[in-house]
Amino acid sequence: MLFRFGFVIALGLAVGAQPLRSLKTLAVPATPGLEGYVRDRDALVALGKAFFWDMQAGSDGRTSCATCHFHAGADHRVQNQIADPNNVFPANLRLTMDVFPLRQLADPGNRASTVLRDSAMRVGSAGTFRRLFKGVVPGEAAELGEEALDHPEFMVGGLPVRRVTVRNTPSVINAAYYQRGFWDGRAARIFNGFTPSGVAADAPGALVLRDGRLVREAVRLDAASLASQAVGPILDHLEMSYGGRTWQELGRKMFSLRPLGLQRVAADDSVLGRYARGGERGLVIGYLELVRAAFQPVYWEATELVEGGYSQADVNFPLFWGLALQAYQSTLVSNDSPLDRFLDGDTAALTAQEREGLQLFQTTGRCTTCHGGAELSGAGFTGGRRAFQRTGVRDAGEDAGSGGGSFKSVGLRNIELTGPYFHNGGMATLEQLVDFYARGGDFANGAIRSFTVTPSQKAALVAFLRALTDERVRYERAPFDHPELCVPMGQEGAVENWVGLGAVGAAGNAAPLQTFEELLRGVGGDGSRANAMTEACTAPLP
Ligand code: HEC
Ligand code: HEC
Repeated sequence: MLFRFGFVIALGLAVGAQPLRSLKTLAVPATPGLEGYVRDRDALVALGKAFFWDMQAGSDGRTSCATCHFHAGADHRVQNQIADPNNVFPANLRLTMDVFPLRQLADPGNRASTVLRDSAMRVGSAGTFRRLFKGVVPGEAAELGEEALDHPEFMVGGLPVRRVTVRNTPSVINAAYYQRGFWDGRAARIFNGFTPSGVAADAPGALVLRDGRLVREAVRLDAASLASQAVGPILDHLEMSYGGRTWQELGRKMFSLRPLGLQRVAADDSVLGRYARGGERGLVIGYLELVRAAFQPVYWEATELVEGGYSQADVNFPLFWGLALQAYQSTLVSNDSPLDRFLDGDTAALTAQEREGLQLFQTTGRCTTCHGGAELSGAGFTGGRRAFQRTGVRDAGEDAGSGGGSFKSVGLRNIELTGPYFHNGGMATLEQLVDFYARGGDFANGAIRSFTVTPSQKAALVAFLRALTDERVRYERAPFDHPELCVPMGQEGAVENWVGLGAVGAAGNAAPLQTFEELLRGVGGDGSRANAMTEACTAPLP
């Protein structure tokens, strides 16, 4: 059996395709020279997991990285998630099935058919309110800010709503395999310790204690795009920060707070369980203690204060933040989908229909030209020839991406759980997505060729895409377990709607994660799905 399928796969490969491999055959790329900074990797991962989930990190004291990346590594909210660079869109809208696809054709199989509806708006993720940074109050999660009502598109009835990103939120799971981060690759491979750009001139260097003196030393770490990425959103005046916040102020705030002080942590959390406080919120260990455990002393041990009264650790906060978040996210590897098992030789791992879909994926659909290798992505380290491609999801003039309307050929594992799809979040179902590819894309592109599929072939391709889900992700089992979290999901008048997600331990949830389509169709709100966005928030709110 194994021989037969292997034979068929090899024969049918499209030109330029990268043969598929199990992700179990590929380790997360290491960052050379990391040991010069890090002395305890376990402590680094614990620090990164706390940073990632801590709602106190945002300027409002309630926005974490996880706020936009809590559901199979992506976002699962449906209200106030729309933005448009051209500023015409309904703020605070609750998304429904009939909004999707954003571009609707009379005949989904024919790109030349009548356009019934078309919108340049984006389904992104709500971040913070637009405020100007006025300072931190040590011991308080919420910072001082002044309302900046200069974005009228994020006002409803005279009241400000949270601003929304202009791109859809991709999953952080398996992101460690990309050479460059973001849809357009602007998070560099090289981490400069301070900004996402990788350019040395954009960074002052780390503050290091050498021979009793504090000196600046340039940071240049390769294979570290997750660190480059992580230093972006935290000071971004839309995602997590009030405008003008500095790293030192953020460091001072975070070191004054109990990690995850607003959130419960499961006693059997795979990483943080050993620091959990029983039924109490937060961890028994402080951020400074975790930094000291994780990093070499030359980066934090100076007793002298620098200008402005900041500690060495405050000043080096971007270095700690970037490297800790990279280390934690590097543990978010999902390599045990039915496809991975099949490629490892377990021929029973895929059903006959899924195998038919696999065949179409490699031949008729030509999908492996861009979603091949172990990563199912051309943007990894092993098969990076088609990393950024123009597939005609939108007109290149609306969003240039990495140039000329090209976007990252993203990995596809767990795709069933991470809708809506594409950089603009324009499609809600995998059927809509397969239609898009079969009709040869929606806008001009040189990369997608149309192909013909029967309804049963389409169903097979969708079934195959569903076979890319790792059950550990679906049930939030370790390493995908997490602390409690509350996320804002739109507002009624001045009152925000907060949704709660309970703390999950290593054994995961009893119920599987809800898909975006199920959320829009109202399936799973009865407790048969996890993260159905119906649970009340129990963490303290401002
Ligand atoms: C307000 C929502 C929001 C918050 C908060 C947020 N992100 Fe994201 N994240 C996004 C969006 C949107 C993108 C895609 C942006 C783009 O490509 O232009 C993204 C992209 C990423 C990527 C790149 C994945 C890929 O495919 O290249 C990673 C990794 C990531 N975020 C991690 C983080 C971390 C770590 C934090 C906290 C420091 C964070 N995010 C905070 C919305 C958010
Ligand atoms: C020429 C390269 C190329 C080919 C061929 C290709 N893709 Fe893609 N794929 C991309 C790029 C680039 C993106 C991101 C496009 C965007 O968001 O604008 C993408 C996005 C996706 C996504 C959405 C990912 C997400 O997280 O939103 C899925 C699913 C997908 N592709 C599946 C397929 C399937 C199935 C096929 C074959 C029928 C296919 N792709 C063929 C390049 C390609």
